[in-house]
Amino acid sequence: MKNVLVVYYTQSGQLLDIAKNITNELETSEDINLSFYKIKLKKNFPFPWPNEEFYDAFPESYLQVPRELTDLDNPLLKKKYDLVILSYQIWFLTPSIPFNSFLKSEAIKPLIENTPVITIIGSRNMWVMAHEKVKKLLYANKADLVGNIVLADRHPNHISVITIYVWMYSGVKKRLWGIFPKPGISDKDIEDAKNFSNPILESVNKSSYKDLQDKLLSIGAINIKPFLLVTDKRAQIIFGKWANYIDKKTKNNPEKRKRLLNYFSFYLTFAIWVIAPIVFIVYLLTYPFTMGNRKKEKDYYSHTKLK
Ligand SMILES: Cc1cc2nc3c(=O)[nH]c(=O)nc-3n(C[C@H](O)[C@H](O)[C@H](O)COP(=O)(O)O)c2cc1C
Repeated sequence: MKNVLVVYYTQSGQLLDIAKNITNELETSEDINLSFYKIKLKKNFPFPWPNEEFYDAFPESYLQVPRELTDLDNPLLKKKYDLVILSYQIWFLTPSIPFNSFLKSEAIKPLIENTPVITIIGSRNMWVMAHEKVKKLLYANKADLVGNIVLADRHPNHISVITIYVWMYSGVKKRLWGIFPKPGISDKDIEDAKNFSNPILESVNKSSYKDLQDKLLSIGAINIKPFLLVTDKRAQIIFGKWANYIDKKTKNNPEKRKRLLNYFSFYLTFAIWVIAPIVFIVYLLTYPFTMGNRKKEKDYYSHTKLK
């Protein structure tokens, strides 16, 4: 009998739907004992999000400051597994606070040390650099990272920015005015995530994960969009400056924090609607000269190694 654990946190339920579909064939296999563990925060985040609280999560998200968790003495975390599947979402270009808190908790090391780990990401579309941060923590804890599957909103960036805000602030995943597409990851992609479960099942049964990521890639586990990667990298630098500044300047000064976060929200809107299109034009102009590098980056970020 093989034991597999899926760790997750989700606000809307989207990530759990994805994780369940990806482990569909493990669930029905008689040789596998599949368990799910939900990350629980002592003080949870609201969903739907009030506007202020949404931006209030920014500095600690970006700076990867953990929050206190509960249920860390759950017996599910005390066992050794043949495979651990860690599913997470991205908040502000960084692993979400609940997932990051789990990655930095005392529970993680014994769970993943010398154990095959697969990561599942359910994001809007900007996840690559956040995953590098996760990889660093996984490698630091001696995990054997053998796979990564990413589901994202496939609509153009500016459309998904609008629809995700509406979803996060209303809590309802539905089409805005009947004109915009449904927010988040499409129902079809969530359903098709079942296709990933067979290669994972085969690997678990054989206790061999050598070619797993290549098999997953051949059926569409990862789709890297070079322009989003360029944006992600630039935004990391700017987010870092904002997050550090807000954190340093507003300790014990909630009014000032509120004001600076307000400026940050305006800046973000400006960056999305004004700076990003300019960066896109520069990106197009330099496109022919960056082909070799783009190919290399695509290959690196599609695999599980850490630079
Ligand atoms: C505070 C916050 C910040 C987010 N920032 C990003 C981001 O930087 N990149 C991204 O691709 N998605 C981002 N998302 C979307 C999430 O990754 C995720 O897809 C969505 O919240 C649904 O996840 P759920 O399963 O927890 O409901 C953000 C969501 C929230 C709530």
